[in-house]
Amino acid sequence: MFEFLKTAPPDKILSLSAQFNADPRPGKVDLGVGVYRSATGETPVMSAIARAEAILLSSQTTKSYLGLAGNIEFNDLLGRLVLGESAEKREVRTVQAPGGSGALRILGETLRRVAPGARIWLPDPTWANHKALLGAAGFELSEYPYFDPATGGVKFDEMVETLRTAAPRDIVLLHGCCHNPTGANLTPDQWSGLAALIGERGLFPFVDLAYQGFGYGLEQDAEGTRILARGVPEMAVAVSCSKNFGLYRERTGAAILIGDNARAADNALSQLLASARQNYSMPPDHGAACVRIVLEDEALRQEWMDELESMRLRMLTLRQGLAAALKRATNSDRFAFIAEHRGMFSRLGLSVEQVDKLRRDYAIYMVDDSRINIAGLPEDRLDAFAEAIASQS
Ligand SMILES: Cc1ncc(COP(=O)(O)O)c(C=O)c1O
Repeated sequence: MFEFLKTAPPDKILSLSAQFNADPRPGKVDLGVGVYRSATGETPVMSAIARAEAILLSSQTTKSYLGLAGNIEFNDLLGRLVLGESAEKREVRTVQAPGGSGALRILGETLRRVAPGARIWLPDPTWANHKALLGAAGFELSEYPYFDPATGGVKFDEMVETLRTAAPRDIVLLHGCCHNPTGANLTPDQWSGLAALIGERGLFPFVDLAYQGFGYGLEQDAEGTRILARGVPEMAVAVSCSKNFGLYRERTGAAILIGDNARAADNALSQLLASARQNYSMPPDHGAACVRIVLEDEALRQEWMDELESMRLRMLTLRQGLAAALKRATNSDRFAFIAEHRGMFSRLGLSVEQVDKLRRDYAIYMVDDSRINIAGLPEDRLDAFAEAIASQS
């Protein structure tokens, strides 16, 4: 029967990686796939995680099932890491999930059951997989304006104007920090404005927090989510530990729901667990068990925070270095926004043809929309890199 199937379109970013790996040219630059890289181009196992793995290996006595919600202690610790004091003040229910993607999917399915006719509003642009994951969960997808290529900033007024047209119970997906693919983020004042709008219009906020600690700092990057948690009756948060704990392949994340009261939160939790059961039953244990060890131990927690901060600062230095190199190469401030953005990505504003040419002529690989992974920049060759970019404009 398979011969009657249409071939599914390949994932563009993963295909780009394969193309990069097959490119024999020395000095090739991979700015495609969203993984952190050190100065030597590696995606290291974070040192606190490596220590936690050693502890786990010597102390784990069983691999028996944990249950649909996964590691309960991990859930509690992660809820507090994300929500701060709201973790105690609100009716919070957390379920361990297979990465941020798994969390998005089971939360999406749960929200579909809560509000069957609701649309989900995504920022324009957004992470490509949002559309695939949430579309497959059954949502009708709509977009709100977000990024302004002319200024490199957020079109906040237009965003608010559009969200005012959303129907009550519609769901609004927001990037908690470090917007992917643009790197342009909301200010705390804008988050407060959104919390008010969401309350006024009866909308439901769904935050995707995949880069906590990569933007302005561990606490600062959770501020928007916490502002909402203080100001709205109900919300959902999909958390990924892939980037900030370096646990990509271990598939570690959490789905968080906040309910208006205990009964409502328990109802929603039961649906979230049902969704997990229908999709994959129980999440993989290893990554969450390591995160639990790290967050419970004061010294390991500090070691993790220090390493995360050094990763954040490395990306910031690269941003500043690239903006300065592009200023020299173009003799303009056209790319000044790169130093203003935060997180792992920025969009350069190049056409698909220019992106193709950079790949062909300079072995510089970036996503078609000219999104670059800042952590992949060659720190000792920023001027040559900037010259290549400038040659396209
Ligand atoms: C915006 C955003 N959300 C969620 C994820 C999910 O990551 P994972 O499923 O690997 O935890 C990613 C990963 O690239 C992302 O960029």
